[in-house]
Amino acid sequence: MKQLCVFLILFFSFKSSDAQNPAIFTVQTDKTTADVQPTMWGVFFEDINLGADGGMYAELIKNRSFEFFKPMMGWKVMRPKNTTEYSWQIPVAAEKELQILSRKEKNANNPRYLHIVLNNHKKGDLGLQNEGFRGMGIKKGLRYDFSVFYRATNAAVKAHLELLNEKNEVIGKGELTFPNTEGGEKWTKVESNFTTTEGAVKGKFNIWFEGTGMLDLDIVSLFPSDTWKGRKGGMRADMIQLLADLKPGFIRFPGGCIVEGNDLSQRYQWKKTVGAVEDRQVLVNRWNFEFAHRPTPDYYQTFGLGFFEYFQIAEDIGAEPLPILNCGMSCQFNSAEMAHLDEIDPYIQDALDLVEFANGAVNTTWGALRAKMGHPEPFNLKMMGIGNENWGPQYIERLALFQKAIKDKYPTIKLVCSSGTDPDGERFNYLNGELRKMKADLIDEHYYRRPEWFLSNANRYDSYDRKSVSKVFAGEYAGQSVQTVDVNNKNNWRTAIAEAAFLTGLERNADVVNMASYAPLFAHIDGWQWTPNLIWVDNLRSYGTANYQVQKMFSTNKGTQVIPILYKNNAPATGQDSLYASATKDKNTGELIVKIVNTLGKAQKAEIKLDGNTKFDTKGHLLILKSDDLEAVNSLDNPSVIAPKETTMDIKGKNVALTLEPYSFTVIKLKIF
Ligand code: AHR
Repeated sequence: MKQLCVFLILFFSFKSSDAQNPAIFTVQTDKTTADVQPTMWGVFFEDINLGADGGMYAELIKNRSFEFFKPMMGWKVMRPKNTTEYSWQIPVAAEKELQILSRKEKNANNPRYLHIVLNNHKKGDLGLQNEGFRGMGIKKGLRYDFSVFYRATNAAVKAHLELLNEKNEVIGKGELTFPNTEGGEKWTKVESNFTTTEGAVKGKFNIWFEGTGMLDLDIVSLFPSDTWKGRKGGMRADMIQLLADLKPGFIRFPGGCIVEGNDLSQRYQWKKTVGAVEDRQVLVNRWNFEFAHRPTPDYYQTFGLGFFEYFQIAEDIGAEPLPILNCGMSCQFNSAEMAHLDEIDPYIQDALDLVEFANGAVNTTWGALRAKMGHPEPFNLKMMGIGNENWGPQYIERLALFQKAIKDKYPTIKLVCSSGTDPDGERFNYLNGELRKMKADLIDEHYYRRPEWFLSNANRYDSYDRKSVSKVFAGEYAGQSVQTVDVNNKNNWRTAIAEAAFLTGLERNADVVNMASYAPLFAHIDGWQWTPNLIWVDNLRSYGTANYQVQKMFSTNKGTQVIPILYKNNAPATGQDSLYASATKDKNTGELIVKIVNTLGKAQKAEIKLDGNTKFDTKGHLLILKSDDLEAVNSLDNPSVIAPKETTMDIKGKNVALTLEPYSFTVIKLKIF
């Protein structure tokens, strides 16, 4: 521990430029060394930490189709007060009225449903309560849309719908009748909506039954009406807005380890996530049981946020989709089950069919489904990833088969390939070598490392092979304040400023690094498995962490071309005097953008010499992200502890003089003529 503290102090305190003399940077304004790809800064979405179900997918009912391992998980059966038995099981007293039935032979995707027998029931005799994911976030004065699939035989049945707050007060109510369908196989969807009178952070939902007859229920669903773009059954708008604000170049989806699955049967299969929502087969989420220290037994995937919705969101916010496909290997930390090479074809076919689903004409099988789902125009998919953190010769031999088949059919699709779990070591070195020999388009590197690693790796790409056709995708980066998978990891300024320093290194080397994304993206404060994360939410609120603010400073001040910025001895600033820097030019906005990170706990005077014939406006714009406290964090109650402050400065001549604040990340923008 003592050694660690000394190490941190060395990185974060002592090294400074000469006290009297300013740190002098030279920006060679007439030179460009690389194009910054439009995809440079993106996001990586995985359904971890209740990212989709219980998070971005705005469904409020948990276990809506009774398909969890325990079919009544999330549900309580309500009976008159003297016989009330609240549990996730059907109480003995209600066994004649309620049964979980299965029609597996007829509907393998959605076998279970609730069979209800009513005999002159009055309101209060029999009801169901759903607890939501971690309660239900309810807004005052908002319309809520209820729907359910049902069959009714000899029935005259009514349902009373109630939203309750934490004090069990009714804050919204509606009614629903179930016209007779006379059983059979045909299921009918009925809908009802109501507006709330109050809000709640942890609300719950009741359905009380009244009448006589037999009623079958499935896909019991409740959504707020203020979803992203007002789409019915859609996504939480605040969470997508935080993504849109990043102006991300791409969205990597759906994982992550979730792509691989604990074993192959639990791998992510995109074909099971498209088409009618009620036909999407529920699958246990691997983060349900992955961490013994953070079990989440109610974590399942409904795939309400499936591949169509994913492509649609990417399009909405102007990001390129980057879907990740299973490569015929499950997670090598878990079962490590692999498809035999003789049986790899269906996996490859899934990848080929995904291109057809995204881009194919509407008269193709998968293009037709996309059109039927409401998007006849292609989604213009340009790249896909094969495998997540897979490694070893087994990965390379499987990848080669994917590469051949995909490039033969779709030569312009770029493939993102795995370099394993770590950015160094035997596995990484082997994969990096093999992938470059295979002329992989993009190599996905992952870094879950302590802050000092990020600082000392700001020069990582300065020495990468410029001749290789393979580019780097920094696919999952996140400073770990304690260590990887530690529950005490924090999204503090210490990790974020170290990432900022590292990202200057990615930007300076945009000729070899084409894409980067932080990981993971979302976490629910009451339902997470992994920390740190880019964005934290509760049932109603969300905020960007310090790390989010850093990524946003890069992604919204990206520029289109890299220009050299030199420090002492004409070398890039990669930690000398605790300073890190990069510079770009934006040909669309006509700006020079300089980024400087000062990881010293003291202010440092700096001078930026604008070397070249370029002319500048006399007004400069500054964005400063800083905190005197390296342990500082944003939170739901204080979301802007670490947020950029904007200011202007006058520029005289070709020397920009400024003070770099202690522990700060500064973006300087100058108009170019
Ligand atoms: O981001 C959480 C997990 O970390 C991802 O699923 C995986 O790719 C990495 O190991």
